[in-house]
Amino acid sequence: MNIIGIIASPRKTGNTAWIVNKILEGAKEQGAETQAWYFSDLDIKPCRGCWGCHQGDQGCVIKDDMQKLNDAIDQANAIVFGSPIYMMQMSAQAKIFIDRLFARYSPRYSPYFKEESAAQKRLILTFNQGNPDSGLFQSYIDYTRHMFELLEFAVTEVPVVTGMRNGPAQERKDLHTVLKDIGSSLVAERSPE
Ligand SMILES: Cc1cc2nc3c(=O)[nH]c(=O)nc-3n(C[C@H](O)[C@H](O)[C@H](O)COP(=O)(O)O)c2cc1C
Repeated sequence: MNIIGIIASPRKTGNTAWIVNKILEGAKEQGAETQAWYFSDLDIKPCRGCWGCHQGDQGCVIKDDMQKLNDAIDQANAIVFGSPIYMMQMSAQAKIFIDRLFARYSPRYSPYFKEESAAQKRLILTFNQGNPDSGLFQSYIDYTRHMFELLEFAVTEVPVVTGMRNGPAQERKDLHTVLKDIGSSLVAERSPE
């Protein structure tokens, strides 16, 4: 089983990276092959809105690291997508990535193509935030989950880590097991092929 982590934070060794990697670690211990993709290392430019991707089969006209990431997504059985909360929403890096998915998904902004799509990829969506109140951004997080479902990902879990202004995530001993368990369940719940 191949699981990739996508770290939509500008900080390569920040909380998002640590959280996504802990989930991957749990999956790896159960025998999965894992790989982390850091937006801090990738050159992914914003969508130009040219609609070139929906004219013919050439895909997105922007040639950058999005092609590499799309290939990794194609080969993955499951994805762990992590973003920090920035100004009450996902990071700019996360939004740029999602806009670029427009080249590969329904231009109708709906699950219209769901039945026709290839097998759904399982996705764990994880957010982390400075504020300790886990309910503060719940409506936005629910909305984002729904957005990924419209993009035909099967969202299995949405762990939200709060209180990150009190110190780095790795100092939170309670998180180690919880996050690794989420990763190992991803392997255990693997659907038959
Ligand atoms: C530009 C910016 C905006 C932020 N906005 C929020 C916010 O709206 N609510 C919140 O709870 N935390 C906010 N934070 C805190 C981050 O979500 C938190 O520190 C997170 O763990 C950072 O992830 P990272 O270590 O991967 O960069 C913000 C941080 C930055 C740098």
